[in-house]
Amino acid sequence: MAADPKAMKIEAARAALGHVEDGMKLGLGTGSTADEFVRLLAEKVAAGMKVVGVPTSVRTEQLARELGIPLATLEEEPALDLTIDGADEIGPGLSLIKGGGGALLREKIVAAASKKMIVIADESKVVETLGAFPLPIEVNQFGLRATMIAIEEAGRRSALTGEIKVREKDGKPFVTDGGHLIVDASFGRIPATKAFADDLNMIPGVVEHGLFIGLASLALVATPGGVKVID
Ligand code: 5RP
Repeated sequence: MAADPKAMKIEAARAALGHVEDGMKLGLGTGSTADEFVRLLAEKVAAGMKVVGVPTSVRTEQLARELGIPLATLEEEPALDLTIDGADEIGPGLSLIKGGGGALLREKIVAAASKKMIVIADESKVVETLGAFPLPIEVNQFGLRATMIAIEEAGRRSALTGEIKVREKDGKPFVTDGGHLIVDASFGRIPATKAFADDLNMIPGVVEHGLFIGLASLALVATPGGVKVID
């Protein structure tokens, strides 16, 4: 297998396609790897496969719609068979950091509404401890400063310190599909992932955070030697 990043993403996406069965209701993730899956799925749909996709972002919705994949909202299809999504980091026990693309809230809601979540990635995403990738935290715009202080305090309770900053795009605050902001927390390694996730969940201004714990059931990780299965 070629070792260039795009080819590896395609290989992981192709492996995920092998888990898709006719008639399935699918959560469609967000990001460059998830895009490759959507493209391959569209080929299957064009060849006659019957599936319905629930996109996790406006971006994915647009791509899937352009490629002719039948779509539904989570309101219309609240129970999904399988979600396929990328990740920023894959850690022990299939814990994940997600949200690099800013879609973590819908991604987490869709994954939680799915019987199974398969993560697709290249091997660069696999880590021993989560946290080298700055943790995306989706926050309400109201009370931003107070929420950021509360996030810093939660970090300190888990012995985590580092810069936290509001994500920007084109010189302006990045606004999610849900109308919220993203705070990226560069706290470094997060050994007590669950305790920190629980602490973040207690902050009223935190809408959701990018620690995905207990949601993924399988990861398909592309390496130059082939796709590795982590379960
Ligand atoms: C979007 C995400 C993405 O899955 C994550 O950022 C990985 O993206 P890519 O496949 O482009 O590396 O969580 O919110």
